[in-house]
Formats: sequence, C-alpha cells, structure tokens
Amino acid sequence: MDKFTIEGITPLKGEIEISGSKNAALPLMAAALVADKPVTLKNIPKLNDIYTFSNVMRVTGARVDFDEDSRSMVIDPTNISYLEAPYELVRKMRASFYMTGALLGRAGRAKVSLPGGCAWGPRPVNLHIEGLKAFGAHIDMEAGYVNAAIPGDRLPGGHFELSPSSVGATINLLLAACKAAGTCIISNAAMEPDVVQLCDMLTKMGAQIEGAGTSKITVHGVDSLKGIEYYNAPDRIETGTFMIAGLMHPDSELTLTNCAPEDLGVFRDVIAETGGAIAYDNDKIHIKAPDIIRPVSIKTEIYPGFPTDLQAQWATMMTLAGGDSTVTDTIYPDRFSYVPELARLGADISVKNNTAYIKGKAKLVGASVMSTDLRASVSLVMAAMNSRGTSDVLRVYHLDRGYEDLENKLNNVGASVKRVAEQA
Ligand code: UD1
Repeated sequence: MDKFTIEGITPLKGEIEISGSKNAALPLMAAALVADKPVTLKNIPKLNDIYTFSNVMRVTGARVDFDEDSRSMVIDPTNISYLEAPYELVRKMRASFYMTGALLGRAGRAKVSLPGGCAWGPRPVNLHIEGLKAFGAHIDMEAGYVNAAIPGDRLPGGHFELSPSSVGATINLLLAACKAAGTCIISNAAMEPDVVQLCDMLTKMGAQIEGAGTSKITVHGVDSLKGIEYYNAPDRIETGTFMIAGLMHPDSELTLTNCAPEDLGVFRDVIAETGGAIAYDNDKIHIKAPDIIRPVSIKTEIYPGFPTDLQAQWATMMTLAGGDSTVTDTIYPDRFSYVPELARLGADISVKNNTAYIKGKAKLVGASVMSTDLRASVSLVMAAMNSRGTSDVLRVYHLDRGYEDLENKLNNVGASVKRVAEQA
C-alpha cells in the first residue's frame, strides 16, 4: 500500500490539465454494452475504477481495449455471452452495479452481485431494483446476487418515481429502458451532468429519450442501438477539487485547462463567495487565492446544488478561513470520516449529526493521517500541502481510484508530494 509523503507549506502556481470524468465514463462504458457494434470512447481517464470496470465488462465476453496514451477506449460488445458480474469485482467498485441495466438492455438477463457496504455508511440499491421491476423486469435475490430477467424479449415499460433522486438508479434504468418494447418514465430523475451525458450518447446511438437534464425522463424503446464514437466530459469533481486547492494559500494562482465550467452548477457561485478571484475563459478557469478566505457555509444537494463529492475538500479549505462555518451533507449524512484525520493536523472541526462545525484560522502542522475514501483522501492531501512540516497520507490507493496522476499534477505546480511504497 503506497503512502504520500508531503512537505508543506507550498503555494500552487501554474497550469493543471483536467482529466476525463470518472463518474461520466463508467456509464458511457456500460452503454457500449447495449450497442450492436463496437463503440469508441475518447477522453477516458487512467484510473483504477476504469480498469476495474473494464475487467467487470470483460467477464461477459465483451472486448475492452484501452489505449492509455491517447485515452481512447474501444468496447466491442458483439461476443457477450456470460451475463454475470461477480462479487470479487463488484465489491471493489459499487458502480459495477450498472451491469444490471446494461446486461438487461443487452440480453434480457443479468446476474449481478449486490455491492455491499461503503466506507461512509449504507448505500442501498433498492431503487435500482424497484425501478427495474416497475418497468417489467422479474427480479429475485439469491446468495448475495440479484437475478434479473425480462419476460419475453423486451422490457414492457412503465413508470417509476425515484425517492430520493439517485444518479446510479437513473443510469441503471436508462440502460435497461433503451430497448424496451414500450415507454419507460423516470420521475424525480437525476439531473447530474453525468446522466445528461449518458442520455446524449444513447441518443446518438439511436435511443429515443426526452427530458434529459430535467427531473422527468421518458424513454421510448427502440429495436437496436448502433456503435458510435463519443467524447467523455472533463471531470467536474476534479475541477472543483483543484479550484478549492488553488484558494488555500494566499500566494496560489492556478489555471485549469480542459474544463467544463457549465457542469459546475451552483458551485461556481458559492466558490466566488470565498473572495478568491475566479475567471472563466471557455474551457479554462483561472483561480487567484484571496489574502484571507471568507468563511462560507454549505449544504450538499442534488445537482445543480453543491455536490457531496466536494464537501470534504470544502470543509478542509474552511479550516483555513478567516472565521467559522458549517458543512452539511444531506445526500450522505455519514460522510465525515475525514474529520478526525483533519483534527490530527490541527484543525478545529467537529461533527454533530450530518453537519461539520469548523472553526477557521487553523495553523495546520504535519502529521500521519489515514485515507478513508476517495474524496476524504484528496482533502487530506490538500490539508497536508498547507501544514507546516512533513505529513504522511496513508492508503492512497483510494486516490488512484479517482484522481489521475494526482502527485505529478500537484508537483508540477509547486507541491512536494512523494509516493512511497509503505511496508505492510
Ligand atoms: C453517485 C456518484 C458519487 C456521488 C453520488 C451523489 C458515481 C460512480 N458515483 O453515486 O460519487 O457521491 O452519486 O452525487 O457516479 N439511494 C437510495 N436507494 C438507492 C440508491 C440511492 O436510498 O437505490 C440514496 C443514497 O443512499 C443517497 C442518495 O440516494 O442518499 C443519492 O445516491 P445516488 O445518487 O444513488 O449515488 P450513487 O449513484 O451511488
């Protein structure tokens, strides 16, 4: 297990190129399984989650060729014959559950392991299952697996209302619905850019989808979907992470390239309240840190609200602000495992229910801290870059799941982050 050894305090100055989106790429890959012919995806990030999902897809007989240099992936679904996603792979990454919708859409049958727990609490898949049933799939559970089948050749269709709205369930339902015999309606559908992008790709493949980007998506089933070439969006969470990182030291000045600022939702307005100078120039974002960060309290919401995937980074920045603030997570109320680790670096932060209470003006000092999940890990790296002296961030395999080339991107703009193989 690798760790990062980080020397602080370092301002960040220069340019960082944003990679393709992880959370958008995974559903696009799943969508390729429903096509009749090979699909080419561009701007796919080199991340462990992408490799894991490639392996999940290969189990079925699909061919997945990833050219890492060009970030181009070709997925050939023509020889799919084994309609299963095994526990050994699904437990590594919850998004593997997209195989349920993809295989139903492809072949009318799927046997997919239930994903199990998650580092920050329960993450159920009941809505995925209830939604598929509402569209006419037969589903039963057996030994930790979901057995799903479509009676007859094609999903009859139906209506399902998500409560709460769910990104993953919307994606699974879309994948299953495209080739339905009838019409499938998803109410309270997720409006996240990742879902909009999936709808766009499926539509270019020949699907008939209305309402993408709104809370009601209607899918009229079609006979077949064709193979296409599709360009994956820039990662909005990586973008937001580096925007926050660029505000944390008063001498920092960053330019982010290959961004999609239009995908940031209210985060754009909220981050402006910190007093940093932020300018948007097509696919570039310029960030200049303020002398003193203004305290800004946030509450996570579904898109276009403040993303839960950026709350840990935000709380980390707020430990350095000129006053007190709160961070409330309404999507994942338990997502605060980073809080005791930040406290080890000297932050004054505590949690009650689903809110972190943060006192600003922390003088952080280097220490050993433990990564607990992807977004918590990057937050600890950001805190360590702003802590006096040396910090060790342990278990950075979480970061390798979702931040492409993080240490090089940071070192190129002035950080001192060294990857060290950690003794077990
Ligand atoms: C996706 C993202 C994740 C992000 C999250 C919220 C991927 C691979 N992951 O996760 O990074 O943090 O969206 O933006 O894209 N829920 C249920 N039953 C279900 C499904 C969800 O109750 O069957 C609840 C969840 O517990 C949560 C809420 O719905 O409270 C939203 O979760 P959801 O949007 O499904 O998150 P994911 O798709 O798993």
